[in-house]
Amino acid sequence: MIQALRGMKDILPSDNERFIYIIETASRIAKRYGYDYIETPLLEETSLFKRSVGESSDIVGKEMYQFIDKGGHDVCLRPEGTAGVVRAFIQNKLDKKGGIHRFYYHGPMFRYERPQKGRLREFHQFGCESFGEPSVFEDFTMILMIKDIFDTLGIGYTIKINSLGCPECMPGYREKLIEHLHDIRDGLCEDCQRRIETNPIRVLDCKVDSCQALLKVSPVIVENLCESCDSDFNTLIGLMKSHKLPFELDPKLVRGLDYYTRTAFEFVSSEIGAQSAIAGGGRYNRLVEFLGGKPTPAVGFALGIERIMELVEMPEKGRQGLYLGFMEPEAIGTILELAHRKRQSETVHTEYGKKSLKAHLKAADRLGAKRIGIIGEDEMKAGEIWIKDLETKEEKRIAIDQFD
Ligand code: HAM
Repeated sequence: MIQALRGMKDILPSDNERFIYIIETASRIAKRYGYDYIETPLLEETSLFKRSVGESSDIVGKEMYQFIDKGGHDVCLRPEGTAGVVRAFIQNKLDKKGGIHRFYYHGPMFRYERPQKGRLREFHQFGCESFGEPSVFEDFTMILMIKDIFDTLGIGYTIKINSLGCPECMPGYREKLIEHLHDIRDGLCEDCQRRIETNPIRVLDCKVDSCQALLKVSPVIVENLCESCDSDFNTLIGLMKSHKLPFELDPKLVRGLDYYTRTAFEFVSSEIGAQSAIAGGGRYNRLVEFLGGKPTPAVGFALGIERIMELVEMPEKGRQGLYLGFMEPEAIGTILELAHRKRQSETVHTEYGKKSLKAHLKAADRLGAKRIGIIGEDEMKAGEIWIKDLETKEEKRIAIDQFD
């Protein structure tokens, strides 16, 4: 039997309400914050991700679904949504237009990771990207929007924040860090030893305990920020405090993608195990320029829909819709006509075969219908239908043309 690929999941009807509910809730809230829907392709040139997410990141280095297409182009399935949106922003000359542009999107992302609970190879994100607004108030407003989404979905979280500095302060910090990493090199894991050269900042969030023990005394980014980054970071902290958001400063939060500058944040849940990040994002003021556009400040985030599905309690739905059936085969024409009329306003299940009343009632119950309508011999002669409300147990016979 052919099975879905490892780390890829079907979203069956039993789950899809939760899936759609998350997307609809997040979309509704994003629209209120001024975001418009954008759709970008699942497949992009590999170089887009190399240049944005970063060649030395795990995502690009180890996890891409990359292949040469029939035209000889090096392409890959998108591992994340930001790069494609930035490419679309530049390609459609919105960078030249100036002003503020805000987009939201949702869809599948692909990363060839080691599958485990909460970590898939195909997963879905809902994300937002805001272009043109350099103010840290935009970063804060985005965090508030995510708070609104999670509060509406009834999900608990804490927020981790950090600053990743800018081209003015980061090179100096990097030097300091590299120096320190060389001092402790022998005690670091193989990955970290390699990263000293390729991506020293990533060493900070290594998950190996012995590395973390050595890193306890390593230089801290937020103690090495330039005046402007420091001022923004303090403004953000002040806003988080005055709005009583549940947050902590995490000097080791460096994110797995290389495009961030200044604000970086993650929303984490304590209820879903090791893969606890339910949303992540930050500012990326250099990326538009880096991909060939006019320098444009930007900030964004994405949330992981599958991880959130684990946490959402769906409102109790109750019985819904109408079940229509007959006990006289000649009634099929009337049932089809009636079903079509009723479908203009509600969900209708029709049974095309003759069945006993008991069998119809059982079928309606299994489908979770609120009402059942049956045409038996007597009803057919009288041009009527028997209706029962399966919640209130009320029943009646009415003329078919008066059934509304
Ligand atoms: P990210 O932190 O890589 O950021 O992913 C965002 C969220 O996607 C994570 O917090 C997590 O909930 C979910 N996620 C990531 N990988 C997996 C996986 N393998 N299985 C299930 N869920 C996963 C980004 O992708 C950035 N593009 C966010 C962003 C937008 N930054 C600026 N704008």
